Amino acid sequence: MTEPQLALITTEPKLALITGANKGIGFETARQLGQQGVRVLIGARDAAKGEAAADTLRAEGFDVMALIIDVTDEASIGTAAAQVEKEFGKLDILVNNAGIGLFHRLPSEVGMAELKEVLDTNLFGAILTAQAFLPLLRQSDSGCIVNVSSTLGSLFCLSDPHWIGHQGLFTPYSMSKVALNAFTALLSAELINTPIRVNSVEPGYTATDMTKHQGFQTVEQAAQVIVKYATLGPDGPTGSYFDGDGRMSW
Ligand SMILES: NC(=O)c1ccc[n+]([C@@H]2O[C@H](COP(=O)([O-])OP(=O)(O)OC[C@H]3O[C@@H](n4cnc5c(N)ncnc54)[C@H](OP(=O)(O)O)[C@@H]3O)[C@@H](O)[C@H]2O)c1
Repeated sequence: MTEPQLALITTEPKLALITGANKGIGFETARQLGQQGVRVLIGARDAAKGEAAADTLRAEGFDVMALIIDVTDEASIGTAAAQVEKEFGKLDILVNNAGIGLFHRLPSEVGMAELKEVLDTNLFGAILTAQAFLPLLRQSDSGCIVNVSSTLGSLFCLSDPHWIGHQGLFTPYSMSKVALNAFTALLSAELINTPIRVNSVEPGYTATDMTKHQGFQTVEQAAQVIVKYATLGPDGPTGSYFDGDGRMSW
């Protein structure tokens, strides 16, 4: 009598790209996705910083690679997308995490050069990256785009004159994240009949270089929120804005 043959089932790991993943919340998101068996491309504008971050996570046993991507440089985004297409032919998770500009500036005084600089990274960078990688996300059976936003991008909060956040008035940053939230809503509407989920996520006020390490919470806590919405199935929510407590008001 012949022994029954066990079919060998191999599943390809999911593939994620995180922009600005060489440090801070992006780096910890890469680690936590790695812990879930996701293969992670560590997006970094500086090759040496990207390689150093990838080396650290590889030494911890994770399947990661560095990918040079400067989100303010359309050619760099295009080169990165072509590389991923050639090597992998698809992408499952895109985390638009690269961000700058958490500095106080009154709306009556903000300079156009600094406003454009922040929008270039936080808004146009995320849009260009999503556009470049969308054809690869369409190859996934459950693609996820997470746009890393902030409470400072909530019009619900910004339109309350007594909101505690008005003590800061980070005008360029807030404007970039409000517009990023609009992009989330619009792109999710365009993709509503596809398996691709598109959401904005507020990771919470977190101790990183951006906050001069003043945040209330750790990068581990921040990354958990992002990972939750980066690993949704095709029936998961789309076109929403989440923090660690759930759905937020736009
Ligand atoms: N920390 C918070 O409390 C907080 C709260 C809400 C939302 N967020 C958002 O979370 C995200 C990550 O912030 P973080 O706190 O982790 O800040 P961070 O430690 O300053 O990290 C920012 C990352 O973005 C990268 N970056 C900046 N410009 C870039 C560009 N043009 N191309 C590619 N990468 C670029 C940086 O690379 P370099 O190392 O080369 O500069 C770095 O890797 C941001 O979108 C931020 O707005 C943070």
